[in-house]
Amino acid sequence: MPTFDINSTGESVGKVFADKIKGKTVIVTGVSPNGFGADTARVLALYGAKVVLAGRTLSKIQATAADIKKESPNADLRELVLDLSSLQSVRQAAEEVLQYSGPIDLVITNAGVMGTPYQKTVDGIELQFASNHVGHYLFVNLIIPKLLESLAPRVVLASSVGHLWGPVRFDDYNFEDGKTYDKWLAYGQSKTAVILYGIELAERYKGRITVFSVHPGGSITNLGGSLTKEDYEKFADFYHPDGTPKGDWARSIGQGTATYFVAGFDPSITDKTGSYLTECKIANEQVAPHATDKEAAKKLWALSEELVGQKFN
Ligand SMILES: NC(=O)c1ccc[n+]([C@@H]2O[C@H](COP(=O)([O-])OP(=O)(O)OC[C@H]3O[C@@H](n4cnc5c(N)ncnc54)[C@H](OP(=O)(O)O)[C@@H]3O)[C@@H](O)[C@H]2O)c1
Repeated sequence: MPTFDINSTGESVGKVFADKIKGKTVIVTGVSPNGFGADTARVLALYGAKVVLAGRTLSKIQATAADIKKESPNADLRELVLDLSSLQSVRQAAEEVLQYSGPIDLVITNAGVMGTPYQKTVDGIELQFASNHVGHYLFVNLIIPKLLESLAPRVVLASSVGHLWGPVRFDDYNFEDGKTYDKWLAYGQSKTAVILYGIELAERYKGRITVFSVHPGGSITNLGGSLTKEDYEKFADFYHPDGTPKGDWARSIGQGTATYFVAGFDPSITDKTGSYLTECKIANEQVAPHATDKEAAKKLWALSEELVGQKFN
């Protein structure tokens, strides 16, 4: 089995697993051009997967589909409108997926927002927590029957090294209705929640669904759209003032997506379900204690059930 490292790209890892990718049905969320999702979808199509392009902005889904078709004219693509910040939209999208014929082999919950000003969703949940965790929690849990139709289904959840910035605030996930909001603590909360969800989902479906959370890498995408010069100054260890990532933290978009492909297809790590990966490797030792605590994972499951108004046993 070849080994992968920081120089690997989604495309180079995908090439190694091309026989596993071919014919699989994969949902990727957040596929707008110039982001990790679009590149992931492109590589999946290149190696013959049926790709469900899920996103909240139809014109961006269509732009990515058109780009993919230029490289892979016979790509099997499907559009799925999914706004993770609306539980109703998530339910509608999941309903559509449940009507598809055939299994879903892999879901990559890549969509996300970072460092947004305080905002509550229509459902009354802080935007980063809602978009990065709660929406994906509901979507994945609702389509589990489709995953279980696959012989070896996987779920790959986009977390971030940013999980280090904060735990899940079980008693105050909305930051006192915004009064004590800190956008970095909120990003940290949301990405911690992603890892904890992965741990609990893996536990509940052990032997049936393989689950990983991933820090893709620091790349210039559209993610920093709402950041200011002050934000970049605050993170001067990581960024130049213009928002370009610094030093060996910086990755191309292709390098960023490499870890999704390891998590999605590498058969040698199946028994490590529930783990966190970065730089193409299992890296549980890099996870903060607040994101590895099994009791916190159970507590988050219960809180998420409460927020979406549905039990998932
Ligand atoms: N780039 C990095 O350095 C970095 C580092 C660590 C982790 N990550 C993670 O990697 C993932 C991908 O980020 P990226 O860097 O590729 O950023 P990006 O280019 O901004 O892509 C984010 C995607 O998520 C979509 N999205 C946002 N809110 C949504 C919602 N409510 N419903 C549905 N889709 C929504 C966006 O759609 P619109 O275009 O319509 O807004 C876009 O397609 C994120 O989870 C991010 O946290 C990125």
